[in-house]
Amino acid sequence: MGPEIIRTKNFVRDAADLILQAARQSLAQRGEFRIALSGGNTPRAVYSEVAQARKISWQDVLFTFGDERCVPPDDEQSNFRMAKETLFDPAGIPDESILRLRGEIDPETAAREYEARLDALALKRGEEIYRHDLILLGLGEDGHTASLFPETAALAETERRVVSNFVPKFNSWRLTFTFPLINQARHVCFLLNASKHVELIESVLRGETQYPAARVAPMPGQVTWILGQAA
Ligand code: 6PG
Repeated sequence: MGPEIIRTKNFVRDAADLILQAARQSLAQRGEFRIALSGGNTPRAVYSEVAQARKISWQDVLFTFGDERCVPPDDEQSNFRMAKETLFDPAGIPDESILRLRGEIDPETAAREYEARLDALALKRGEEIYRHDLILLGLGEDGHTASLFPETAALAETERRVVSNFVPKFNSWRLTFTFPLINQARHVCFLLNASKHVELIESVLRGETQYPAARVAPMPGQVTWILGQAA
């Protein structure tokens, strides 16, 4: 089944509704909701909207991060800081519901530590690889997603679930989920607002794999694109 494409002038509301619907469905069916947050700027308003939700048993939700910059958690570049400001603090998410990528330590150590924590959770559930109920992703203008940037080593990873990845264009390290982990998800949702990168989105949807986002293909998971349209 191909991806579901939702074009909307109500991007923030529709994105928040998708997340909350997935949460309620997972909590009802499995008593837990395992969601990976994306970073960057696009999700800010969506997370703030989600934080307003009522009657979500946040203690049964586990938040992970699809990627992180190699900076301290209070750095303005930190994806954790963005989520803390927009979602965790406003919604009163308990610390035990948050699995933070430690961007402040050695990148490879942080990646292996996080991978081990996900592996331990997967083992408890009888899974070979941790299965997210929902992974949120963004799309960069070069077709990257998470921190899987074109022409970087992490693209070739077929075994590891979480790796450190040097990104020459930023001359810096990142921490990122790999395709093996992303493609284990029950549902992946790309969030793109303000009709950006129209031609790029078409190329990715055609499966042009020079763009890393085109290699997100969870089986048997579902892919949704929520595309904000200019008002
Ligand atoms: C990050 C993100 C990254 C992001 C895209 C889009 O850490 O930056 O995970 O993959 O989703 O770069 O970013 P914007 O939402 O800021 O356009």
